[in-house]
Amino acid sequence: MPTIFIDNRPYTVKKEGGNLLHACLDLGFDIPYFCWHPALHSVGACRLCAVKQFRDENDTRGKIIMSCMTPVTENLRISVDDPEVRTFRAGIIELLMLNHPHDCPVCDEGGECHLQDMTVMTGHVYRKSRFKKRTYRNQDLGPLLNHEMNRCIHCYRCVRFYRDYAGGRDLGVFASHHHVYFGRHEDGLLQNVFSGNLAEVCPTGVFTDKTFKRHYTRTWDLQTAPSICVHCGAGCNTFPGERYGKLRRVRNRYHEEVNGYFLCDRGRFGYEFVNHSRRIRQPFLSRRTEKITGHQEGTVTTEGLFKYLSHLLHFGGKVLGIGSPTASLEANYALRTLVGPDHFCSGMSESEADLLLEISRILRSGPGRSPSLRDVAMSDGVLVLGEDVINTAPMMALALKQAVKNRPMEKVKDLGIPEWNDAFVRIAMQDEKGPLFVATPDSTGLDEIAKEVFRAAPDDLARLGFAVANAIDTDAPEVTDINGPLRALTATIASALKDAKYPLIICGTSCGNKALIHSAANIARALCKTGKPASLSFTMPECNSLGLALMEAKGIRKAFKSAAKEKAEAVVILENDLFRRADEESVNRFLDSIANIVVIASVSNRTTEKADALLPCGTFAESSGTLVNNEGRAQHFFRVFVPEGMSEGKIMESWNWLCRMLAVTENTRGGTWKTDHDIAAGLADELEIFKHVPNAAPPPEFRETGQKVPRETHRFSGRTAMLANKTVHEPKPSDDPDSPLSFSMEGFGGRPPAALIPRYWSPGWNSVQALNKFQSEIGGPLRGGVPGQRIIEPKQLGPAKINKEPFFDDIPGAFNARKDEWLFVPLFHIFGSEELSSMSPSIEELSPKPYLALNADEAQKLGFTDGDVAYVYLAGKSYSLQVRIRSALPPGVAGLPFGIPPLEGLSLPSWVRISKEEAAG
Ligand code: SF4
Ligand code: SF4
Ligand code: FES
Repeated sequence: MPTIFIDNRPYTVKKEGGNLLHACLDLGFDIPYFCWHPALHSVGACRLCAVKQFRDENDTRGKIIMSCMTPVTENLRISVDDPEVRTFRAGIIELLMLNHPHDCPVCDEGGECHLQDMTVMTGHVYRKSRFKKRTYRNQDLGPLLNHEMNRCIHCYRCVRFYRDYAGGRDLGVFASHHHVYFGRHEDGLLQNVFSGNLAEVCPTGVFTDKTFKRHYTRTWDLQTAPSICVHCGAGCNTFPGERYGKLRRVRNRYHEEVNGYFLCDRGRFGYEFVNHSRRIRQPFLSRRTEKITGHQEGTVTTEGLFKYLSHLLHFGGKVLGIGSPTASLEANYALRTLVGPDHFCSGMSESEADLLLEISRILRSGPGRSPSLRDVAMSDGVLVLGEDVINTAPMMALALKQAVKNRPMEKVKDLGIPEWNDAFVRIAMQDEKGPLFVATPDSTGLDEIAKEVFRAAPDDLARLGFAVANAIDTDAPEVTDINGPLRALTATIASALKDAKYPLIICGTSCGNKALIHSAANIARALCKTGKPASLSFTMPECNSLGLALMEAKGIRKAFKSAAKEKAEAVVILENDLFRRADEESVNRFLDSIANIVVIASVSNRTTEKADALLPCGTFAESSGTLVNNEGRAQHFFRVFVPEGMSEGKIMESWNWLCRMLAVTENTRGGTWKTDHDIAAGLADELEIFKHVPNAAPPPEFRETGQKVPRETHRFSGRTAMLANKTVHEPKPSDDPDSPLSFSMEGFGGRPPAALIPRYWSPGWNSVQALNKFQSEIGGPLRGGVPGQRIIEPKQLGPAKINKEPFFDDIPGAFNARKDEWLFVPLFHIFGSEELSSMSPSIEELSPKPYLALNADEAQKLGFTDGDVAYVYLAGKSYSLQVRIRSALPPGVAGLPFGIPPLEGLSLPSWVRISKEEAAG
């Protein structure tokens, strides 16, 4: 480890050849910077990170250098505090401020602006220029981001993130004389689904969160807590922020292994369902409960409610519990405990429950290990089987965009170019990409960076997967009848995966095809047999899909059947709209057969309309619990705020309602549970796989120097005035017995354990860049441990043991198109396919209308052109849908958008009939 001298004091730094700015920031020096970013590295554009370098200890003059463009060398001597260098840095800010508007008081970035921080840090205080400022026209960039180009300081971070890191094309830098413009070629939505990160990447207020703007509050007035995104199974870490009982925005919470510095746009902008007018804020009892409670429909008291619930729960074995992959482990386990494991169902569609159970077994038994998103980004040979990753696990797609740079980077390193020298790296790399193969039914957003793509029906994708496994290891079953081009593709993929140091196979449940999942597992097994550390990643449809799968509960159809068989008299439905899980007819039949329907929900839907007892629960922002992401990492989310009605017991966390019910029934396991941590401990005790779940975050009694961690900032304002319309007294902050966090600005002001960090702030660092101060190494782990706990770790088997385990051999026959029917394949949309985010107005605006996708030839044969109306018949229902021509779709296959009303609850595999005319009757 080299020694460098900073202002004549020796320091040991980690790596010779590493980046000097990075090393100095790691050592805790406050060197100002703009264009450098730990994930985007250095281009030397802003000239702010100047330090003075000296030849040796006798050199008194030195020279000014850019620390972000300088490699660390043994005995390097620099000064960060030299007066000349300080004047230089203040001069740079002065130049930038010549044209920057002095609009901080009305700027959305104000208070967490990196430019403000750097201006204060460099000491530039007086404006000397009396000339007019340069001005620009701003653009309308759609419902997600606001554009205020006058604030630009031309650091180039935005285009470097958008184009080079996230692979976007429609944001560029346009220049004419001294007018350098960062924007689109014309007004319009930024097409890249990671565009929201610009609000954090841009060091000033050029790109800001437009959804936040609509209900703006000063950022230091936000109450925040560590949370987890609930909009897909990737489990990205977030900081939601609340003020006046409304969730105002979501920002990235750094997790080295999961989402790093970024979020996708669904995760960032999908939060507004929390404020939706369809939120349920009052418990409700239906007319059917009158004879038990003596209350009229709609009017409900806690006493009446619990009278009804206790009556109901004494049905004992005849109560069914329907859980949910969008609810926490704690809520699901409390329900399972209430009704008993045999009467608990996962709440997932039958095919999904079946596939996820299989996936969870494969992940547990190995030998392929489920990678974190960081591991995905480090892969150097990837096969995607059946998943449109950018729409089903967006942040995994962002990781794959980095993974394809790994092979070309080896050549760049051979040229002696350091990895952090971004401009040189890109010049050396040009457009070269590492091996990524995408095999899916339809085109995907990753095709443009793929080495080769393959389009086929799910069975044929599985056959490709089985053939690749066989090409890697002949012990894997052979696919005999494949044609020449496919054989060639198989050989190419097999050889690229064998050549990779870190090969990765990605699959999932999107195609509803078990053979496809088996083929992915076979490839991973075949690679592991050759001694490669092959990773096997399955995308997960919802935020706790894997958690539920690990509970090994049955799917919804089996639950319907057993309810009918056992003549169930009551059902408790947890945060689940059953009409999205099965066809309308079966759901109605099931609900009509049950005399007592208890629904715990946060937002009204078709299922809540059927409730006899409706119990309003907190959303992720008003509740706490644990979710298991697709990697198998259990992560805890904390309540951000207490919604109106929670302190009076009208709204509770789902697990809290269930704990009350467990107490009513004097349940021997759960009757005394008081907190979600108690439930997690019960879960760990009963089911071995969850034994580490209670360690996912510090327990409620955890204190730092005897204090709780405050959710409010130390600058939080209006505490004595914000409720003045209700009381002139300053109300006592709500208690939070369930966590080591407090709803207050008082408490531990230092750096808490990583899982409890409620925001990033450090003296002098008010922007997101304050994160540097929370990491043990910049770009590396957070101080205070890695948040969350991996609960799936396959056994490390030696080659001999791997040899003994059999390969899957359920190779399907080649797909045969039918004459008058088309195989339905779901097409996923980042905006629209997920239930909760689709309720956010900005996401709703970007969601597609329901449509039918057909291959061009087939559409022509049926007499359709793009935009025509087709009548589609599926599972006894007909839909009139607009035709979209998708030339990539294979013949015999019809694509329908997943989860977009009215196309919810469709089961897989299914066949559809299509007609130009509406069928009579
Ligand atoms: S828009 Fe923001 S990120 Fe882009 S160049 Fe200007 S200041 Fe930098
Ligand atoms: S990838 Fe998934 S978990 Fe991550 S931010 Fe996007 S929707 Fe949320
Ligand atoms: S941070 Fe070094 S030149 Fe911009």
